Amino acid sequence: MSRIAYVNGQYVRHSEAAVHVEDRGFQFADGVYEVCEVRHGMIVDLTRHLNRLDRSLSELRMAAPMGRAALTFVIREVLRRNRVSNGIFYLQVTRGAARRDHFFPAEGTPPTITITAKSTDPAVAAKKYANGIKVITLPENRWDRVDIKTVGLLPNVLAKQQAKEAGAQDAIFIDRSGIVMEGASSNVWIVTRDGELVTRPAEHGILKGITRTTLIDVAKKLGLTVVEREFGTEEMLAAREVFFTSATGICVPIVEIDNKPVANGHPGTVSSSIRDTFFDVAEKTAI
Ligand code: PDD
Repeated sequence: MSRIAYVNGQYVRHSEAAVHVEDRGFQFADGVYEVCEVRHGMIVDLTRHLNRLDRSLSELRMAAPMGRAALTFVIREVLRRNRVSNGIFYLQVTRGAARRDHFFPAEGTPPTITITAKSTDPAVAAKKYANGIKVITLPENRWDRVDIKTVGLLPNVLAKQQAKEAGAQDAIFIDRSGIVMEGASSNVWIVTRDGELVTRPAEHGILKGITRTTLIDVAKKLGLTVVEREFGTEEMLAAREVFFTSATGICVPIVEIDNKPVANGHPGTVSSSIRDTFFDVAEKTAI
């Protein structure tokens, strides 16, 4: 079965899908995106993802490519045409194609919208959950507006690659004063020795993850206390559990940080009970 992508109003073969050579996403990273999980034929937390997309667009003063009902229709259609019932869709909107110039293009330049979807192998995720992952810490070197989900991800790309070359799977950004920011593509949580679930505030300095927001609802259901406060590398290393949240991994245990084990070096029970409850609590939209 050939994969299908949506590009500016058309469903095209994935292998032939293309945007203009002077697209501003390509030339300036002048675009935003969303990644959303699909599980058992249900889109997870679609409303929150589309709300965040609207926020990203408005922060960059970019036009929405279409209304929400139409966008939801197209997302479903892409998932159907690719027969995805477990996987993700990826949606990107850029400021459109125009002769290269740093200034915004002429009023009325249509935004570029692309949507792709792919199935993922649940066995790969299961292995991550069972074994946990190793991470490295790196100095924060990103711009000040990482709260906007832009496609400008070069520091994240370099951080992940550095992690891979160091024999780890991911990286965590740490600011100058030793405060934990977030992962290269996920938010960071710890479970303290007292059993509190802690994650840093997301008003500034990190992306306010949708999985993070839903996890706060999940924690309530499980009777766990969530505290939003900053924490440093030392506290993270001394935690009972450390894990990542993101739409692509939901809740991934971290068992080693900079070659040092977290607790006994095995995934903990809090992250696994969160995973078990997550799908029940999250919003589910049928394809
Ligand atoms: N990344 N922080 C960063 C820097 C991210 O890139 C992501 C998501 C998150 C978690 O957000 P959410 O829970 O809404 O997925 C936090 C996506 C999955 C990606 O770039 O592939």
